Amino acid sequence: MDPIQYNLPQDRIPRAWYNILPDLPQPLAPVLHPATHKPIGPEDLAPLFPMSLILQEVSAEHEIEIPDPVRQIYAQWRPSPLMRARRLEKALDTPARIYYKYEGVSPAGSHKLNTAVAQAWFNKQDGTKRLSTETGAGQWGSALSMACASFGLECKVFMVRVSYNQKPYRRALIEAFGASVTPSPSSETESGRAILADHPASNGSLGIAISEAVEVAAKDPQTKYALGSVLNHVLLHQTVIGLEAMEQMALAGDEPDVIIGCTGGGSNFAGLVLPYLGRKIKGRCNARVVAVEPSACPSLTKGPFTYDYGDTAHLTPLVKMHTLGSTFIPPGIHAGGLRYHGMAPLVSHVVDLGLAEAVAVQQLDAFSAGIRFARAEGIVPAPEANHAVAEAIAEALRAKAEGKPRTILFNLSGHGHFDMQAYIDYQAGSLRDYDYPEEEIAMALAGLPSFQ
Ligand SMILES: Cc1ncc(COP(=O)(O)O)c(C=O)c1O
Repeated sequence: MDPIQYNLPQDRIPRAWYNILPDLPQPLAPVLHPATHKPIGPEDLAPLFPMSLILQEVSAEHEIEIPDPVRQIYAQWRPSPLMRARRLEKALDTPARIYYKYEGVSPAGSHKLNTAVAQAWFNKQDGTKRLSTETGAGQWGSALSMACASFGLECKVFMVRVSYNQKPYRRALIEAFGASVTPSPSSETESGRAILADHPASNGSLGIAISEAVEVAAKDPQTKYALGSVLNHVLLHQTVIGLEAMEQMALAGDEPDVIIGCTGGGSNFAGLVLPYLGRKIKGRCNARVVAVEPSACPSLTKGPFTYDYGDTAHLTPLVKMHTLGSTFIPPGIHAGGLRYHGMAPLVSHVVDLGLAEAVAVQQLDAFSAGIRFARAEGIVPAPEANHAVAEAIAEALRAKAEGKPRTILFNLSGHGHFDMQAYIDYQAGSLRDYDYPEEEIAMALAGLPSFQ
């Protein structure tokens, strides 16, 4: 029998996260205070995050130990499987070998639980009573609410309105884990009310939902804020994906030539690729590393690399990243988790250094790839993950056209079981592509902070 799964025993769950910061050939640009535009210190972030996570954000250690209680919860689904997509290879008639790391086996359905559990645990240790957060597709909200339930924390989720309406079952799942869910923009916060005053029918965006969640945390000393992507410590927690994948590829006796992940804020991509980039920096890996984003929200491929706010109401510090402007509201594509105006500073930086490249994919191509994958492999991917699937298939077809085999590894970041309305719409022909929203992005970019 040809092997399909390359699995590790439970005691191979990584004992430490890999921190790429000390290995970078050039350091990240400093994070700046939104008012003074001077580099911030740990104390500036203390109202929002516990000190342990703030210190991870700037750590110079190569490895950060994963606490035992976090590993114990990871043990419910980690190590996650590495699969060889043999039936997809056959369907494509490609000489390429295609592997995927499957993060949809987590109880919340995606990679997001890897950092949710860690963030909830460090907050609990620090005495936090409640976490506030945003969610796009609902994957992050499900993950954080489950993690909060595990450690006895309350959880308040601002869910981007377009997803709140598109995905009632995600909302129900978040509530089943005990969190409260509010559609964003809402009238509960100053930031939400300001948006609603100008755009009463606003679909919302991750940038707006972040403003609401940050505002709630900043005003309540018992509440801290948790972010599902973008920040260094979030990307750090996701490195369990790549650390496991490296061991599993060794089990398969193969090495990736191309590594692919979809990018919203950058965390599942970073989780898979950062351990490989660590090797690449040391000259021990030649793989091409490809980030895949939606054409409707193309921060890496079309946005300048510059300082910008992480949220729409400008409550967060300024970070240097690829951005479409913090007031840009992306079209209501079904991949809600990819509708963020910026990209993780760390992902932006590695793309800028030429260690990784980026491509943009249209919504219909992403769904067509997802259906092809589902019919071959029997897993319906999350709409976000379809973007990675589309690029993996495109790469396999290039291998076929060139008559050159290669090994492709991609991250299947989540399943799409709560996204079936998107598949219904796609099959009914009612989804459409969105052109690059040039005028709106130009307007949003005109509002970039002017000090630079
Ligand atoms: C399944 C899935 N994949 C990918 C993403 C994109 O986020 P990130 O770029 O942080 O991995 C999301 C975000 O919600 C998601 O739910």
